[in-house]
Amino acid sequence: MKAAGFGEWLRGGLLVLAAGGSAWASEAARTPAAAYLGPSAVAVSGDGRVLYACLADARALAIVDLPDVKAIRTVRLPAEPTGLTLRRDGQRIYVTCAAAASSVLEIDAAAGEILANFPAGHTATAPALAPDGQRLYVCNRFDHDVSVIDLEQRQEVARVAAVREPIAAAVSPDGRELWVANLLPASPANRFGVLAAAAAVTVVDTRTLQAAQVRLITGSTSVRGIAFTPDGKYVVLAHILARYHMPTIRVDSSWMNGNALTVIDVGRREVLNTVLLDGFVEGAANPWDIACTADGRWICVSHAGTNELSVIDAPALLATLRRLPLVAFSNAAFFNGNSDGYSASTGEDVVNAPGFLAGIRRRVKLSGVGPRGLAVRGSQVYATEYFTDSIAAVTLNAETEASLRSLPLGPRPQWDEVRRGEVLFHDGRLCLECWQSCASCHPDGRADALNWDLLNDGEGNPKNTLSLLWSHRTAPAMASGVRPTAEAAVRSGIKHILMTERPESEAAAIDAWLQSLQPVPSPALVEGRLSPAAERGRQLFHSDRCGCAKCHPAPLYTDRKTHDVGSRGELDERSAFDTPMLVEVWRTAPYLHDGRYTTIEQLLAEGKHGGADKLSEEELAALVQFVLSL
Ligand code: HEC
Ligand code: HEC
Repeated sequence: MKAAGFGEWLRGGLLVLAAGGSAWASEAARTPAAAYLGPSAVAVSGDGRVLYACLADARALAIVDLPDVKAIRTVRLPAEPTGLTLRRDGQRIYVTCAAAASSVLEIDAAAGEILANFPAGHTATAPALAPDGQRLYVCNRFDHDVSVIDLEQRQEVARVAAVREPIAAAVSPDGRELWVANLLPASPANRFGVLAAAAAVTVVDTRTLQAAQVRLITGSTSVRGIAFTPDGKYVVLAHILARYHMPTIRVDSSWMNGNALTVIDVGRREVLNTVLLDGFVEGAANPWDIACTADGRWICVSHAGTNELSVIDAPALLATLRRLPLVAFSNAAFFNGNSDGYSASTGEDVVNAPGFLAGIRRRVKLSGVGPRGLAVRGSQVYATEYFTDSIAAVTLNAETEASLRSLPLGPRPQWDEVRRGEVLFHDGRLCLECWQSCASCHPDGRADALNWDLLNDGEGNPKNTLSLLWSHRTAPAMASGVRPTAEAAVRSGIKHILMTERPESEAAAIDAWLQSLQPVPSPALVEGRLSPAAERGRQLFHSDRCGCAKCHPAPLYTDRKTHDVGSRGELDERSAFDTPMLVEVWRTAPYLHDGRYTTIEQLLAEGKHGGADKLSEEELAALVQFVLSL
């Protein structure tokens, strides 16, 4: 594909149009896939004159001339673009296109021509280049590993294991280390205290390709942003800090979900500290991306739930954190002199308390909706506004308020019911005081891998968060089946978890979006089909000997009834639980209503679930393969 005029676009190539011009609208009208652009990730050229944005919904790369959006060219892509990175000389751009078998495209930045296509793993994202431009690292989200692509040999040369859903990555300024953010904790969810559930960061030595993990503080989840400070001394992360040990009686003061920034000391590979991005009286829901300015002056965080940009005075933050003890436990601020034996925190050293950043952080309100990816060039910060098909351009300024412009990539989209539901689901402003959104516990409409003590079935019996895929087809809802339908659960979620009252039309829109969710093909499938082992497992699953299908009948793999399968735990008030749907169960560890098992193998063998412990080792492995393929 070559850069060309409007006629070329109509033949399936590129588009040149004036900002907000009607050309895009007519194209959008013809292809439903392009109804929304969905700008997600963004990069800016070294001279600051060209901006590149992944258009997730339009399946295209936008090339935008700055500072004015006079012309936008787009390059059509084979699948949803999830991330991009620009070579230092500005001549090549690498874009990850997500699929079960993803492709990483090398694109000529000036001509918009696709030069090469490197195959990668399942749902590739977050490409990161070595400073010398010789290697490209790509996170394979659902393979839980990282592809190392040698750009001279023109092929993938290694895979390095991460922990769970690697989703963001940054290479150290000296190129020696690759730091990878894992989205979710990989631990059992029914543990408490300092060693309970937390996401980890994977550190890869780029010479030996040896990997190590740095565990974040308890309750850290939904880690979406990672960046180095320009001196290479610190890695900063944007994520949620879930206080999942607390009963969900209130939402204020980051009581349920706090929104956090973690600073890691790179040399020591240790968390320096985790601070809350929330204010005293208003949360800053759903931090997404994080970036540092090249002069080390500012750290910026996009807040997808509150349509804001946090601009933090980096030297002031680092100086304060170096003085304070690590608060390794997300509830320390509340357990003053708590029984777990962690040092009581008072006054200004309550690092994990809302309002900690007062005086060293500005909150810049953006005019678009759903800020996600960030790019920084000089004192200019760009944030993609996912739902309004626009880019926020913020000029940072030490003395005065930051100045803000919004660059439209097309006409302001008209949201249909499903899209409106998606917007509301991700909107922290629904919540009393903006502390969290539905997506805070249900990232991408799935689950945060944590247990929460919702009060719908009594207090003191936490349940593992459920994925919302096909919830509307598998009533009743909740592990205990206390909600008759998913519709009822949606409305009680708004009322009792976001602690607000909203019009019925908003709940209906959220239903519509949740109903539109489609399963992602399992990474255990081989070219979309069951492996031979999984095929043997399928027969066992449906056999009388195993009897799994009695309670988990296809196609939803649930009989929608509650059963006592001997899984009652110490904290439970009941013995019978709703039979879970098994589609996408490969993605929703930990398992059972209290998240006690991290693998299907453990559930079936140790948990003796469905009598599967009586199978031979080989049969058990086959059954596990089948369940993981659903
Ligand atoms: C604080 C975390 C949290 C937040 C925020 C949250 N949920 Fe949930 N959600 C859960 C947990 C935990 C469960 C499972 C509870 C159980 O099994 O008893 C759940 C279950 C559900 C279910 C039932 C799923 C099924 O198949 O049975 C629906 C539907 C749901 N949530 C929708 C929502 C919506 C809509 C919002 C926003 C209005 C929301 N949730 C916000 C934690 C949360
Ligand atoms: C008598 C009904 C019944 C039978 C038979 C049965 N299950 Fe289940 N299954 C359940 C129930 C109920 C749960 C939820 C229990 C809980 O949450 O404590 C469950 C949970 C599971 C889970 C965990 C899902 C999750 O998201 O946490 C998997 C996987 C599973 N079953 C697979 C199987 C397999 C494989 C077999 C056959 C060896 C089987 N089941 C047999 C009723 C049954």
